[in-house]
Amino acid sequence: MEAKNVKGTRDILLNETGGFRTIENILTQICGLFGYHELRTPILEHSEVFARGVGEGSDIVRKEMYTFEDKAGRSVTMRPEFTAGIIRSFIQNKMHIEAELPVKIFYHGPAFRYERPQLGRYRQFSQFGVESIGSSSLYNDAEVITMAYTMLASLALNNVTLKINCLGDKESRDNYREALKKYFEPHLDNMCPDCKERFRLNPLRILDCKVEEDKILAKDAPKIKDYLSASSLERFEKIKSALRSNNIPFVEDDQLVRGLDYYSEIVFEFAYVSKTGKDYGALGGGGHYGNLMKELGGPDLPGVGFSFGVERLFDILVDDGILEAKTSPVDIYVMPLGDEAKEYALNIANRLRVNGFATDMCFDDVKLGAMIKRALKKGASFAVIIGEDEIANNKLMVKNLKENVQEEVSSSELITYFNNLYMKSRGGCSCGRDCSVDCADCSCDNNCSGGNNNE
Ligand code: HAM
Repeated sequence: MEAKNVKGTRDILLNETGGFRTIENILTQICGLFGYHELRTPILEHSEVFARGVGEGSDIVRKEMYTFEDKAGRSVTMRPEFTAGIIRSFIQNKMHIEAELPVKIFYHGPAFRYERPQLGRYRQFSQFGVESIGSSSLYNDAEVITMAYTMLASLALNNVTLKINCLGDKESRDNYREALKKYFEPHLDNMCPDCKERFRLNPLRILDCKVEEDKILAKDAPKIKDYLSASSLERFEKIKSALRSNNIPFVEDDQLVRGLDYYSEIVFEFAYVSKTGKDYGALGGGGHYGNLMKELGGPDLPGVGFSFGVERLFDILVDDGILEAKTSPVDIYVMPLGDEAKEYALNIANRLRVNGFATDMCFDDVKLGAMIKRALKKGASFAVIIGEDEIANNKLMVKNLKENVQEEVSSSELITYFNNLYMKSRGGCSCGRDCSVDCADCSCDNNCSGGNNNE
């Protein structure tokens, strides 16, 4: 039987990994601009980190965690999200003592949830996210939302809808929970089994239910905004004002409660429907959390953060033609004609690589025409053809595959030859000058067209 991947997992294929890396590089760059540093936490955590952190009332903890006993009988869980593990690490490594607050952390990697697989929803997926920990300033919240928006804009995703809502402080949420209980109690018998449990554990989660009848019922449920304390309302208004003055458009969505129990005050989510009309679900989301640190045994410090789903970002960017799923081409394809030429060709290929040219070579004894087809398939712009005569004369045949012209180049001049050809397309010498014009009187040590390379 042919081996298959586990349901809900996905191979990121050869023509996709470059796009994933591009996304991660762009987001990493923005993290640097906002003063964030990367933290890598283990995939495996003690199960209680998520039970206490994400909350026993959440669907994630109740139904979706990959939890098992290790050989010593300890319950461990493959992270369903990063935030709880990041806070666990913050506390354990005493970052509040060692570092200046807020500590600004970014992270990326795989997360695991046993969900029903569908478009944009996997059981193993990648998140890229940030947490800013240790400042209760509302401007910290506003900056984090600005950062998420900047990230999407720098990926050329401009038509996103930023939805925001305020869940209030503890007092606001306690009052709201009571109001929800009063509202849903008479309907409990007709509600789905999940909602019956949500009612018991955390009635806020009922507002997240996807069952049609429960969704209709939830529409007329009390709204959190009517239960917000004066200080939560004021905080929310000031964050909105900060977003407006930063030209960040948003819509208020009083149904937005988010699926994790640790949130308080502002929560947000980014929605996007691709040009083809496909809806992959939220691109990312996050919010402020006031109690998570204490819940995990740490000091009384708040945090705010968000995560993006990288598969969703990638699929949408490809769908909308912003990113192309392709393997990166090689520059040069080396073609030895006959067995004798192979050792020499291997040497030439390595010299080209050492000098920064992506180079591949043909190992098989096939005709020149077949080699050219292979070179074109690999996206090569040039071929270096090496036969017995070329070795004897120390001359190589360089073929421009796009223009279908060729010329002889001496082996010792090969690197200089390609340096000159590629100089313009690569933006000139690293010293900032266009060497094909300036090199003779340039004082840098690169000597690009002078032939003094790693020959
Ligand atoms: P979340 O909304 O559960 O939040 O996940 C964030 C993003 O991860 C989602 O918007 C989505 O893009 C992606 N995602 C979630 N589940 C899946 C899945 N099954 N398949 C594919 N993509 C998925 C959190 O995880 C919070 N920790 C965010 C946060 C950080 N809040 C504060 N700090």
